[in-house]
Amino acid sequence: MEEKIVNLEKEARGRIEGVKTVKELEELRIYYLGRKSFINQLFSALPDLEKEKKAYLGKLLNSAKKKITEWIERKEREFEEKEEIIDFTLPASKLNLGKRHIIGQVMEEICKIFKRLGFQIVEGGEIEDEWHNFSALNIPLEHPSRDVFDTFYLDIPPSEGGRYLLRSHTSPSQIRVMEKRTPPLAVISPGRVYRPDNPDASHSFMFHQIEGFCVDKEINFSHLKGVLYHFAWEFFSSQIELRFRPHYFPFTEPSAEVDISCIICGGKGLKDGGKCSVCKGKGWLEILGCGMIHPEVLKNCGINPKKFRGFAFGMGVERIAMLKYRIADIRLFFENDLRFLNQFG
Ligand code: DAH
Repeated sequence: MEEKIVNLEKEARGRIEGVKTVKELEELRIYYLGRKSFINQLFSALPDLEKEKKAYLGKLLNSAKKKITEWIERKEREFEEKEEIIDFTLPASKLNLGKRHIIGQVMEEICKIFKRLGFQIVEGGEIEDEWHNFSALNIPLEHPSRDVFDTFYLDIPPSEGGRYLLRSHTSPSQIRVMEKRTPPLAVISPGRVYRPDNPDASHSFMFHQIEGFCVDKEINFSHLKGVLYHFAWEFFSSQIELRFRPHYFPFTEPSAEVDISCIICGGKGLKDGGKCSVCKGKGWLEILGCGMIHPEVLKNCGINPKKFRGFAFGMGVERIAMLKYRIADIRLFFENDLRFLNQFG
């Protein structure tokens, strides 16, 4: 009998230790200590035993019961500590909602302004061929931007359109749309572009541009000016002046680079008694390139330049964001440090 009790203790200890759930523990409690348990049955049998044996067995049984009870209670406390305490009166924990990256926000803001003017958003692909990235845009074979130092060519067999590459600007979107559709067209095309530049404060091998263009029968340079003034006033402020500087792009004629009056010094070039640090005292900040779409480009897309004319422009999103939010280093956009990103939006 003694041995049975000792074995029972041993077995109980092992099983209680190994228990995984509160339910299993409750089952063991009933099994070892419940009304029909072995221990209880022995207790019921005690009165029939001899006095000495009764005392001895009674002691053993009591000790076993005490030990098993202790083990079960200890396991219960373990479960309680692990269990989460739920207080329904506490305020809900803060939901960490994500937000768009600053570049995504700026692209969306710019696109919305043009959308309200009737422009349609069309995204192009990031892999292009030489025809769409260069030739159709009237960029000659000897143009330096075609060099392997200025364009990422892909190591895959070329197509009819020449070698494949990562587009170096969003202008191929113009070609893709004009090849497929007929005017009137008013399109805005945002996206990533790639150039093999070493990263520094103003260069990144991947950045974003927004291309815009409009083709119809009576389109002229004043439409372009009107649209860009509207954009600058909506995006920066209604105090902004624009300056159109004559420039050269192969795909537009005439072409211009556009500056806005400095948003920090208001175009004066002076700030706090010295040269304005943002425009370096010039009073102007370059924001984009533009012009009237070259007749050759229209022809390359099957559009008759005698019937239709168009304007086009292209801007760098990072540059615009850096100006608006006074960010000094382009690399900050891509390091994804939340201390930087969380300041926007
Ligand atoms: N594609 C030019 C670049 O990447 C930007 C540009 C200039 C786009 C003039 C245009 C344009 O559509 O008319 O530098």
